[in-house]
Amino acid sequence: MRDVTVETMIAHAQRSVRRYGFAGTATRVVALAGRSISHALYLQERHVWYALDLTAPRASVDLPDGYALSRARAADLPLLEQLPTIGGHEAAQRHRAGADLWLVRAGERPAFACWVFRDRTPVLAAPRGWLPLPAATVCLEDSVTAPAHRGRGLAAGAWSAIADHLARDGVTTVITKVAEDNTPSRRAVEKIGFEPTALMTLTRLALRSHVDVYPYRDNALFAFLAALLTR
Ligand SMILES: CC(C)(COP(=O)(O)OP(=O)(O)OC[C@H]1O[C@@H](n2cnc3c(N)ncnc32)[C@H](O)[C@@H]1OP(=O)(O)O)[C@@H](O)C(=O)NCCC(=O)NCCS
Repeated sequence: MRDVTVETMIAHAQRSVRRYGFAGTATRVVALAGRSISHALYLQERHVWYALDLTAPRASVDLPDGYALSRARAADLPLLEQLPTIGGHEAAQRHRAGADLWLVRAGERPAFACWVFRDRTPVLAAPRGWLPLPAATVCLEDSVTAPAHRGRGLAAGAWSAIADHLARDGVTTVITKVAEDNTPSRRAVEKIGFEPTALMTLTRLALRSHVDVYPYRDNALFAFLAALLTR
């Protein structure tokens, strides 16, 4: 979710009026409100849960030349404004709560970002929006490559190096969920050995949510996801 502070709303409104005029802005506001209401009334999502076993041998993918990976400090968070990803307010909250932000830079500019959650991870389909994580398991979230840097294997190179860091920290499993129709992301995670574990469907009808979890692998992780998410 993007920032919704008064300042950002005013800045968005001013930009919109400059770009679309008053009448155009009013039409867009009505359309966006309609979309939010219709999402609250009806929503259907299909995600594939993937898992990467850090205790098994795995493919090692190098970052292309000219890129450097590091774990972000609080002072690095404003760099996210240069990527199509979550807003600064949510990023600061996540960072304060202990989630790790990893950044790949090309010189001074960010080219890729992703988050690693420990203990619990945000999942729209989960009760109260959070999925508690099993011991020694982390969740990879909100990976994004800047559009100008896509297709160069940046995501796989970054995840591969992050997986090495996590394995050294004693993590045994990395999970991540990808929209079923997000082909670029599914191809990227599969490059470093993430395996599809479960298909999760969320249907929201008139504020009631229904979640189903189907196995790709009938293993402990599938059983865990099915037990916590099915409702
Ligand atoms: C998913 C994403 C992070 C992959 O990053 P990446 O660094 O481009 O990854 P790769 O270079 O390994 O490319 C992965 C796939 O993207 C597609 N791709 C290739 N060039 C591309 C380009 N110029 N633009 C968009 N997609 C491209 C291809 O399907 C490629 O698979 P292939 O190498 O087997 O052909 C990136 O596409 C992205 O930021 N997408 C928008 C946000 C998103 O969907 N995040 C994932 C949430 S789960």
